[in-house]
Amino acid sequence: MDFSGRHIMSIQDFSRDELEHIFKVASDMEKYVKTGSDTLKNKILASLFFEPSTRTRFSFTSAMYRLGGNVLGFDDPEMSSKAKGETLVDSIRVIDSYADAIVIRHTIEGIVELAAEYSNVPIINAGSGTLGHPTQAMLDLFSILREKNTIDGLTIGILGDLKYGRSVKSLAYGLANYDVKLVLIAPELLRMRRDILEDLSEAGKSIREVPYLEETISDLDILYVTRIQEERFPDPSEYEKVKGYFIISKKSLKSAKDDLIVLHPLPRVGEISTDVDSTKHARYFKQSYYGLMVRMALLSLIMS
Ligand code: NCD
Repeated sequence: MDFSGRHIMSIQDFSRDELEHIFKVASDMEKYVKTGSDTLKNKILASLFFEPSTRTRFSFTSAMYRLGGNVLGFDDPEMSSKAKGETLVDSIRVIDSYADAIVIRHTIEGIVELAAEYSNVPIINAGSGTLGHPTQAMLDLFSILREKNTIDGLTIGILGDLKYGRSVKSLAYGLANYDVKLVLIAPELLRMRRDILEDLSEAGKSIREVPYLEETISDLDILYVTRIQEERFPDPSEYEKVKGYFIISKKSLKSAKDDLIVLHPLPRVGEISTDVDSTKHARYFKQSYYGLMVRMALLSLIMS
């Protein structure tokens, strides 16, 4: 399977076979997490973050260093020519001659796709507005696979801000490649968009929507929790209505299956209380580690 030069725009661009190939390469990368490698020696990744990030930016940077490559870029767009009014398209036309791939996170939907139209090197979407976060979905799927040895046959609850969150949308589309039951857990104001629900049912997914975790906790093999995306609410009074709606504590997991796994793309801002961290269910920190392996795999696949 040849991924070289390929943009990573949307999880929907990847077939199940392709995802499985990425997961295989990601597992192969584990040995380099400790020892490093020179797979991407002399390669440069440009990292353009127009929105805050910790894990995604650090793990792409770490992945590049682990594979012997280099990284240039910014995490504060005010320190780039954007502050002088340069368009992203102009920036891309310049940066693509300085780097072998470009990873971009942006608040505006569609702008990463636009960048890809102008770039001569592969572009990786590291989160675009409320729409998509394909590499997060890949690492979420990989985390499930590593923890459960399978994705098929599982009942997966996705809880939180299903309306403004991008990781949940990409994850739902990624899961559509597998034989899973999806339970979407959100209050009315934060339900998944109708067009996405339609796409998922067209893909033959069984989907149940419930407002509270209690209604479904005992069915779940995976509970994927996300934060409410305060910064993306067009109307702050709407945020006030759902603020603090979910707080998952050890007590909330009382009737969970013994081998339930709790995932979260992080950052968490109170929706999983810290008493869950020491339970056998918590895997959200491990998930960030799996993310490093997936990003090492993606970088090596598109750049070598
Ligand atoms: C997510 C994001 O930025 O979309 N974080 C991440 O990449 N790990 C989730 C979030 O911000 O809630």
